[in-house]
Amino acid sequence: MSTEKSAKLGSLDKEYDLPIHSGTVGPSVVDVSALYGTSGQFTYDPGFTSTASCKSSITYIDGEQGILLHRGYPIEQLAEHSTFLETCYLLLNGELPNTDEAQEFENAITQHTMLHEQMDRFFHGFRRDAHPMAIMVGVVGALSAFYHDSTDINDPEQRKIASRRLIAKIPTIAAMAYKYSIGQPFVYPRNDLDFASNFLHMCFSVPCEEMKVSPTLARAMDKIFILHADHEQNASAATVRLAGSSGANPFACMAAGIACLWGPAHGGANEAALEMLNEIGSVDRIPEYINRAKDKNDEFRLMGFGHRVYKNYDPRARVMQATCHEVLKELGITDDPILDVAMELERIALNDDYFVEKKLYPNVDFYSGIILKTMGFPTSMFTALFALARTVGWVAQWNEMIEDPSQRIGRPRQLYIGHPARDYTPINKR
Ligand code: CMC
Repeated sequence: MSTEKSAKLGSLDKEYDLPIHSGTVGPSVVDVSALYGTSGQFTYDPGFTSTASCKSSITYIDGEQGILLHRGYPIEQLAEHSTFLETCYLLLNGELPNTDEAQEFENAITQHTMLHEQMDRFFHGFRRDAHPMAIMVGVVGALSAFYHDSTDINDPEQRKIASRRLIAKIPTIAAMAYKYSIGQPFVYPRNDLDFASNFLHMCFSVPCEEMKVSPTLARAMDKIFILHADHEQNASAATVRLAGSSGANPFACMAAGIACLWGPAHGGANEAALEMLNEIGSVDRIPEYINRAKDKNDEFRLMGFGHRVYKNYDPRARVMQATCHEVLKELGITDDPILDVAMELERIALNDDYFVEKKLYPNVDFYSGIILKTMGFPTSMFTALFALARTVGWVAQWNEMIEDPSQRIGRPRQLYIGHPARDYTPINKR
């Protein structure tokens, strides 16, 4: 970070000099951290649309150009050439691993895939129809009650073990949530399988017969995980950082991230996007839904469209669209009516003035639902899969925050619009 210039802020009858910091690429920032101390005023930015909440070297997004880089590497190259575990290593450590480092990391993740045996009682405490995200919030938070030897956030070794445990155990938890919902026995992880194949095996195998995971589907799953691995200071990552800023343990922080991701404006959008495509049902009904999306008096939005940061095609959506075709081909599905609706909807929206003017493009969630449904996942599992993949991003962001010497508890301020001080009125006088 370099500081070379300063901005002048005119406020009341005074002028304040505010330092401007520049990063390596992307917009510079006006540092207002001392503003309250000198002027007695706060800045006001609901939704943080103009506020950088931290400095970070993990992920860079250029929303205008549709660029997403992890530690400098374009997401398209990682999706094409890397694996999810290698991308995890990159996000956590800043560099791609050499052969020994990759092997050590893979072994460590593989060795942590099992859950404490007693944890399955948590699952049995939930109703069968519990949403997998409800189970994930609870069970991931409960990890803090089982792994006391990795909750001291001031010990780098404990942080490393907690990080690896989280990445390794979350697929097991997600698969168990799924198995529980369909009344099938839990399937233990298999350490001879790669990360994605193991996850598919835990989800779709049953003890009474052998299951061979398709390498094409495993590769597609791995790509989906890579595409969701991190996305800089999105709502759930910011939630993890805020929870962690108080010194809360990593498992509790990840549970907070999962809770935030659950919302339909964030991770819940892939579920909502597929439900919307199903509701539209056929290409001839698309204009009706486009009109509804444009109608100010209708709350309906095209799910899987638009993004706070991308004002261009989400680069992840492109890879997702190609992966979608690969998966359908592998499964011998030559004609999928929902994919037809999706492609036509995309075509119409991209040529419609409303969407063009507002720069609304398909985001990562637009095609992911179709792939996941085709693989056999129910819609209720979609956000759980997002959480599985995003755990590494949360963990990397959390570690970066703890290691930052300037880190303080996150404590936003407010513009108070309530009553000024007034006297308490007894109940018989109200
Ligand atoms: N359909 C129709 N109109 C839309 C849509 C949409 N999907 N998204 C935004 N708009 C309109 C919106 O009505 C507003 O219009 P106006 O300026 O006339 O009031 C304008 O575009 C700007 O929208 P906004 O809500 O102010 O933008 P935002 O940055 O606060 O919201 C968003 C971003 C992703 C929440 C929003 O685009 C949305 O709700 N999209 C649908 C849900 C979705 O797909 N979410 C997944 C996001 S990607 C996965 C992730 O990172 O979690």
